[in-house]
Amino acid sequence: MTNEALAALLHDLSLDEKIAQLCQIDMSTFLADAGSPTGPMLEFNLTREQIVSAGSLICGANADADKFAEIHETIQKESKHGIPPLIMSDVIHGMRTTFPIPLALGSSFDEDTAEEMARISALEASACGVHVTFSPMLDVCRDPRWGRCMESPGEAPALCGAMGAAMVRGYRGKDLKQKGTMATCAKHYAGYSACEAGRDYAPVDISRTEMFNTYLPPFKETLDAGCDLIMPAFTPVDRVPAAANRWLMKDILRERWGWEGVAITDWGSVGELYLHHMAVDAKDASVRCFKAGTDMDMMSFAFFSGLKEAVEDGTVSMEEIDASVMRVLELKNKLGLFEDPNHGANGADQMAMRGRKEHRDAALRAALKSCVLLKNDGVLPLNAGMKVALAGSHADSHRLLGAWQADGRDDETPSLLERFSEDQRVTLTDVENADIIIYAVGEDQDDVGESASKLNPALTIEQKAELDKMLAAGKPVVMVLFCGRPLMIEEESAKCAAVLNAWFPGSEGAMAIKQLLMGDVNPSGHLSMTFPKCVGQIPIHHDQLSTGRPTEPENGRFISVYRDGSNKPLYPFGYGLSYTTFAFSKAAFSADELSSSAPVTFTVKVANTGKMAGETVVQLYYQGKRVELMAPLRTLQAWKRVCLQPGEETVVSFTVKKDDLRMWDYDGKPVEAAGVYDFFIGESSMAELSASILIK
Ligand code: BGC
Repeated sequence: MTNEALAALLHDLSLDEKIAQLCQIDMSTFLADAGSPTGPMLEFNLTREQIVSAGSLICGANADADKFAEIHETIQKESKHGIPPLIMSDVIHGMRTTFPIPLALGSSFDEDTAEEMARISALEASACGVHVTFSPMLDVCRDPRWGRCMESPGEAPALCGAMGAAMVRGYRGKDLKQKGTMATCAKHYAGYSACEAGRDYAPVDISRTEMFNTYLPPFKETLDAGCDLIMPAFTPVDRVPAAANRWLMKDILRERWGWEGVAITDWGSVGELYLHHMAVDAKDASVRCFKAGTDMDMMSFAFFSGLKEAVEDGTVSMEEIDASVMRVLELKNKLGLFEDPNHGANGADQMAMRGRKEHRDAALRAALKSCVLLKNDGVLPLNAGMKVALAGSHADSHRLLGAWQADGRDDETPSLLERFSEDQRVTLTDVENADIIIYAVGEDQDDVGESASKLNPALTIEQKAELDKMLAAGKPVVMVLFCGRPLMIEEESAKCAAVLNAWFPGSEGAMAIKQLLMGDVNPSGHLSMTFPKCVGQIPIHHDQLSTGRPTEPENGRFISVYRDGSNKPLYPFGYGLSYTTFAFSKAAFSADELSSSAPVTFTVKVANTGKMAGETVVQLYYQGKRVELMAPLRTLQAWKRVCLQPGEETVVSFTVKKDDLRMWDYDGKPVEAAGVYDFFIGESSMAELSASILIK
């Protein structure tokens, strides 16, 4: 549709029709009893007219191209202008083919993997008629108590931003009009992951400086990559819920960043203003959110009546309504929905796309890159001919997908036991007769995700007791851990001969774990979140700010340590072992000084000093000093995956620009880097090899 035609359409809409474009309702409203004034319509208090002219429908696992085709037809017939609704769904790590959870994808430190996950998700989901995914999730996570860590690429703003941008490229493809693409929604803007004590939906209180330096950058990077929508968080910023926060939604998003996409609330957020005692009725709540810069209301149904009233009494102008409606119409136009409301989806394609072999192969590659080997006393890889006992809650479990599985199926997810049974190289036996025990254990997939906060993210008492029973057999125990967040496993990890953290590895997770344990593929994942030793250390992350006191216990009395334990994490951010070893040397900059005009190159020699081919993630960190603000001790700046044969070496180089090192002050004004900066290079955030540069 041309811009003129879009403008003419907008001009032609009644106030009710315009407001309906700003409302998202559940797809089930159509499915049950379509046409009858009972059931869902009554429950939601919506009229048939409102339903057929709603701007968007949300759906879950019930996305289906043929059902949507019928819905689109009904809308064409029953509504005056027949504007196709945007079909939105949470497709965050795959559709039918389920990839490792986003926190695991973060552990791959591989943007290509994230992009491929998104591309395949778009192929499968758009074939079912989904137009928009509520992904990527970009919350910077530093508190494992929060169940939603699993949805995020992890704790490093740079990693979250890079993975978010890669996902946007993958979902959207080159042109949203093309079949097989999906529009994207960055969430949850911003700071949700800092909810107090890791309790989901609990209030957040973070400084502006923290906002600008930690929580906002991943959003900026992802929006710059072409993200179409944004979802304000449930949580407040400066005591105002994000959806109603003008500073966040207008000053930053629209004015400072000049972003023109669609802002849609999270589920029922407009209605939550009543619970916060910030609004007394639908009009009040709608006006607060709308005036703050929110365009669409997800599942509060408040805009239908509230915004209408506000326009009628002059609180909201028609120009303001038109601007938001136009954004929604433009998105529909970008997707080509006016020409084809189903965006190329059809039942035959939907069937053909489901869990295709090449999609599952991609999910396997992703899982291989994202499992993290945390410990190995030399028992891995397993030897051919070994007698292996497989035990633990996850040994024969099909529940390896994690939460937020869009159309993933447990019954299409082979278990570890099934995958090992297919392998002739090992004999499966019981604990007594085994040479080695694989203890597969961790969280249940329903115990992670939204509203799954934990006071003590750890193994259960029963799981710990079972592990002790295994250990009593006197055989080496390899723990394979399944989790949607870092778990406190200090004791268990000390007792086991090896630990492989599999996160929730997806449809082909069991195959990936088997291949890694057997040494067919060398582990190469690195932690996307710090593993604390105990809950008392939380929040813990690699980019903690400097302190004015020493942080080592041997340094005297009034120092920044705990009386009853260490400051050090169990496993730091970026950490991950391989079956080979890598040596780093000759870290150097191409120049002594870095000024704003010319970037410099940082190089380091990396050698595979072991006996097996392997891949590692070379990570570059810096400590910014002598600037106007206190700086993190380490900030992740860049990373590269490098694959080397035994004995092979290579030079890895990174471009460092002055702008990349800037920080932001309380007002969001840039604080330029200046002075001597130390850069650290290696395989984790504890890397010691360094080189310094004078920044002018
Ligand atoms: C979640 C969002 C999600 C939305 C729609 C909310 O409860 O916070 O992340 O996109 O539901 O399913």
